[in-house]
Amino acid sequence: MEFITLSNGVKMPIEGFGVFQILDAAQCEQSLSDALAAGYRLIDTAAAYLNEEAVGKAIKKSGIPREELFITTKLWIQDAGYENAKKAFEISLNKLGLDYIDLYLIHQPYNDYYGSWRAMEELYKQGKICAIGVCNFYPERLADLCINAEITPMVNQVECHPFFQQNDAIKTMREFDVQIEAWGPFAEGQYGIFTHPVFTKIGEKYGKSAAQVVLRWNIQRRVVVIPKSVHKERIEQNIDIWDFELSADDMAEIEKLDIGHSEIINHFTAETAKYLNGHKIHN
Ligand SMILES: NC(=O)c1ccc[n+]([C@@H]2O[C@H](COP(=O)([O-])OP(=O)(O)OC[C@H]3O[C@@H](n4cnc5c(N)ncnc54)[C@H](OP(=O)(O)O)[C@@H]3O)[C@@H](O)[C@H]2O)c1
Repeated sequence: MEFITLSNGVKMPIEGFGVFQILDAAQCEQSLSDALAAGYRLIDTAAAYLNEEAVGKAIKKSGIPREELFITTKLWIQDAGYENAKKAFEISLNKLGLDYIDLYLIHQPYNDYYGSWRAMEELYKQGKICAIGVCNFYPERLADLCINAEITPMVNQVECHPFFQQNDAIKTMREFDVQIEAWGPFAEGQYGIFTHPVFTKIGEKYGKSAAQVVLRWNIQRRVVVIPKSVHKERIEQNIDIWDFELSADDMAEIEKLDIGHSEIINHFTAETAKYLNGHKIHN
């Protein structure tokens, strides 16, 4: 495993395991157990994934020393604001069965996220969180938060894969020393990504699958990736990416695939803001 050093000196694995849309508790626990056995140490969950308890169980069962793990969870929109964020953090901590979180993220750029951020800054200073960050903050919101907050976010988790490469967003992140983390590193399976001729052809040279080429491409750009799978053989395949290196020509060929926008979610519409604000995860 390779590591990235965040702006505050915390070391973060460059690859982790995502558990979005694994709602069944037994399946979540099993997939995560397989992932931990395969060598993943960064786990990416969220209050809104409704599986923090299952994640906590798999962590406990693994017996892996806490300091070897890098646990990420996220604050949902409904719990934004200074007081609510502090409460939501404690609830996540309890569900996970942990006494600190490695990375706590604001899940979406909506509602009172400045209030949330102040609570997170406080929890960070108290040592309950090792690093704090945001998700889905496009350049204008990220720059605004970086300029006005006391503590600059250490991570911004955004959709990022060969069909949406986020090159402009990465420039802003680098300017403010914010590490990019890629959600949906496989574009959630869109574009026939697992059998796409460009990745398949490149993979053949190295004896690697399209999926492995796609992950390797982001890693070589120093982008943290958190692929999700519920299949053991895919979980293992997705972390078997340390014994080959894409050439400059391979990287350039993949760069040509960028379409420059998301076809999963458009954060620039009122519809998305209404839809996500309307999504409640508790009473
Ligand atoms: N912050 C945010 O707003 C946000 C949004 C979305 C996601 N995320 C995080 O990012 C993580 C990853 O994103 P994602 O889960 O949306 O999508 P993803 O990782 O891009 O794609 C997951 C899909 O790829 C399939 N897959 C995985 N490995 C494969 C392989 N080697 N060969 C063929 N198919 C494979 C999975 O199927 P199977 O499971 O059936 O194997 C699943 O359908 C999430 O789990 C979550 O932690 C964050």
